Amino acid sequence: MNKLVKVVAAVAVLASATFAADYTIKFSHVVSANTPKGKAADFFAKRVDELTGGKVEVIVFPSSQLYTDKAVMKALKMGNVQMAAPSFSKFTSLVPQLQLFDLPFLFRDTKHVHSVMDGEVGQAMKDLVTKKGFVALSYWDNGFKHLSSNKKALIAPSDAEGQKFRIMSSKVIEAQFLAVNANPQVLPFSEVYSALQHGVVDAAENPLSNFYTKKFLEVQTDLTLSSHGYLGYLVVMSKSFWKTVPDDLKPKIMQAMNEATEKNRELSAELEAGYLASIEAFAAKTGTLKIHRLSDAQKDAWRKATSVVYPEFYKVIGEDLIKKAQK
Ligand code: LMR
Repeated sequence: MNKLVKVVAAVAVLASATFAADYTIKFSHVVSANTPKGKAADFFAKRVDELTGGKVEVIVFPSSQLYTDKAVMKALKMGNVQMAAPSFSKFTSLVPQLQLFDLPFLFRDTKHVHSVMDGEVGQAMKDLVTKKGFVALSYWDNGFKHLSSNKKALIAPSDAEGQKFRIMSSKVIEAQFLAVNANPQVLPFSEVYSALQHGVVDAAENPLSNFYTKKFLEVQTDLTLSSHGYLGYLVVMSKSFWKTVPDDLKPKIMQAMNEATEKNRELSAELEAGYLASIEAFAAKTGTLKIHRLSDAQKDAWRKATSVVYPEFYKVIGEDLIKKAQK
């Protein structure tokens, strides 16, 4: 090695020693980067870098690049990934109480959702998740879910009869579709587009952000703005990783998480109108998608038809928690 090469090599070693982070957090999620969850995860990564002076690095893997829904919980336990933000349904086998958030027509609006997340019920859920070996960091928003199909427009509950619905792994959502005589099938999020395209399933329920950013609108003929349920997330960290983080860095990561949560709430509210406008523009341009708005009476019919599932889950979720959340 000549002198110059040696100097360059030494500088490179020094630079990597200076700039390499002491801790790396792999943050895996399944949605697109341009969603409220994706953007909040990127914002969190940036703030952790700034607040820890580069000592902690967060690498975000969107769109199931690293793990699909189910696999991520296992990966967190194994320490193969340090953070994830699964939707509530994905916790069903671990903490079935979180299915509370899947109950149809439980929430009147986003304010109601936040009051449950930030209150006693939200804390009780976090405690249950903590007991299962995760650090339950924060609740993040996506939005209200809407029904879509390529078989028949879903205007009355009877329209769902016999339709194959892709669902998340939630017993509450399964019961919701069984209540309207549909045929629910659990599939990972990463398989939804192709399942709709190839007729493995006919229909789905999604918030507008997922419906738009994952292009489900290309493979559905009818979207009903039903707002019948809510889809949100619990951001979790691997407990064994958290234990390795020194005490002076922990509050900084928590601060970044609080800021990212605020950002996520702002973004999900802000982006919603844009997604709807983009979906409407797509529908007008292609003529392949119809958008249906329900009258109050039509919405009531869905409420009546699906709310029958509540008593079935009094035991699993806790009747007291459901009643508290309803208030
Ligand atoms: C789904 O599986 O439909 C959602 O949980 C995906 C997500 O993370 O928003």
